[in-house]
Amino acid sequence: MRNKIIAGNWKMNTLVNQGVQLASSINEYFSNIKLAPHVKIIIGVPFTHIDACTKSVDFTKIAIAAQNCSQYEKGAYTGEVAADMIKSLGAQYVIVGHSERRQIFGETDSIIAQKIANCHKNALFPILCCGETEGERDDGSYFDVVKNQLIASLALTDKFNILRTVIAYEPVWAIGTGKTASPEQAQEMHEYIRKVIAEIYNKDIADQISILYGGSVKPDNAAELFLKDDIDGGLIGGASLKKEDFIKIYQAI
Ligand code: PGA
Repeated sequence: MRNKIIAGNWKMNTLVNQGVQLASSINEYFSNIKLAPHVKIIIGVPFTHIDACTKSVDFTKIAIAAQNCSQYEKGAYTGEVAADMIKSLGAQYVIVGHSERRQIFGETDSIIAQKIANCHKNALFPILCCGETEGERDDGSYFDVVKNQLIASLALTDKFNILRTVIAYEPVWAIGTGKTASPEQAQEMHEYIRKVIAEIYNKDIADQISILYGGSVKPDNAAELFLKDDIDGGLIGGASLKKEDFIKIYQAI
């Protein structure tokens, strides 16, 4: 059975004390819940919050993710944060290749491939984001765009490590816009992503990979998305900053 995953992405929000408060209150809810072994709850916090947040949650129930890592391993790269540094704070996942990083910070697929390799080298699970822009949706190139992102971003990932990778399909036009892909649009792409993974690796591997949907997931649209065969959970931005919404989205899965 594939892992079902609810992952929050706080982006650049909250001060450390506010983040700790949010993580603690989410933790309090899950302390009374018996999670099925294949259900994973992840919160993606700013670098500055990782240490305090890992100490505020029960790591057997809630994993902490970083939202980025360096493509470099160590050395003279002022301002960068290496995968092994993230690991040393107790985080377990890293969101890699988010469209905001691709668009605002110019991250290319080859940079993303290197970041994923650094995660795997340090026993961190990358959450690889992919997805097309509104223009690419409109001109019909969206399958090719996502396929090319996957092939190039996974260029350094072998069969062993792909099983330690989560994929998140996040159509750029649906992120923070309130426009969600319909469950049918999302399912169609998730099924396609699984086919691409089967082509790169094999079908058995593709069947085991968790593919999350992200882009304006809210309590009122989560259940219909998660009901689809190839949607194994969500990467949640705005709604992950509200404890009640995040928990309702968990309940939907
Ligand atoms: P959103 O963000 O849920 O606010 O649309 C999702 C994401 O960027 O991961």
